[in-house]
Amino acid sequence: MSNASYPATRMRRTRAHDWSRRMHRETVLTPADLIWPLFVTEGSGVEDPVASLPGVSRWSVDGIAKQAKEAVALGIPCVALFPNTPAEKRSDDGAEALNPDNLMCRAIKAVRDACGSDIGILTDIALDPYTSHGQDGLLDDHGYVVNDDTVAVLVDQALVQAEAGADIVAPSDMMDGRVKAIRMALEMNGHHNVQIMSYAAKYASAFYGPFRDAVGSGGLLKGDKKSYQMDPANADEALREIALDIAEGADSVMVKPGLAYLDVIWRTKQEFGVPIYAYQVSGEYALIEAGAAAGIGDREALLMEKLIAFKRAGCSGVLTYHAPLAARLLGG
Ligand code: PBG
Repeated sequence: MSNASYPATRMRRTRAHDWSRRMHRETVLTPADLIWPLFVTEGSGVEDPVASLPGVSRWSVDGIAKQAKEAVALGIPCVALFPNTPAEKRSDDGAEALNPDNLMCRAIKAVRDACGSDIGILTDIALDPYTSHGQDGLLDDHGYVVNDDTVAVLVDQALVQAEAGADIVAPSDMMDGRVKAIRMALEMNGHHNVQIMSYAAKYASAFYGPFRDAVGSGGLLKGDKKSYQMDPANADEALREIALDIAEGADSVMVKPGLAYLDVIWRTKQEFGVPIYAYQVSGEYALIEAGAAAGIGDREALLMEKLIAFKRAGCSGVLTYHAPLAARLLGG
């Protein structure tokens, strides 16, 4: 018998048994890698399902506190809060964002009361849940989102949220210069340890639709967000955005959406070595749910394969509406 033709290297050898596959696994996912986005609505005892996000609801403040406790029990380190502001409180200038007693601030306080420091509270800095036009900032007469005046409001929004107890403020607006302005204001007001996770590379994406339903801004939005969110064709530009936000004082950066932008995550990790988080956005969640419902694959397997891809590409963690399911699967 000739042995001249055997493969010099048998890559399958280490895959032959489960113990060996576990031993050779290069990347791991744990509940500590998950950030759970939650939608808040007015009222008490309210659970209001989001039709375009099967399995996701808007909770009143009391319910948000319960969800946060569940997150703690599952080993999820952080929740991200998003308000569904009542229509009558939305305005052209989004002034409700600066009300220290707004839905968001009450939710922050309720989570803090329920969980103490067992959980991080991440809050979104942008005006879209508060404006009557659904854009993230202030408009000029032509409907263009103006940069510097918007940044001035975002700074106040960040301070209001930090006062209420936010641990991480996350500007998702894509205005220029906002990370520096927010950092300076936090420092000057004694919030030295409030972190900034900047939505540094946020694309003008078709995957945000269900989120806009959930916060009630979708029906209001006229036009698109392409004058501030990025063109999906660009990656070098994302690296410039990320470099700027790091220089301006971001503690961590986000790439959003997730799966379609793994190259940006990878390049960011290689070039800057900073903590990176992917936002597996609402449309990505809905596609997994729709795929599973259509019998295309097993929901849990589809989810876990996508989540590990973020870790493999270099993420420190993932914002995902599937966080509680993933944490349970991971034994949290
Ligand atoms: C608001 C914001 C959006 C998302 C997070 N923060 C929507 C948008 O930019 O229109 C999307 C999240 C998701 O789709 O899950 N600035």
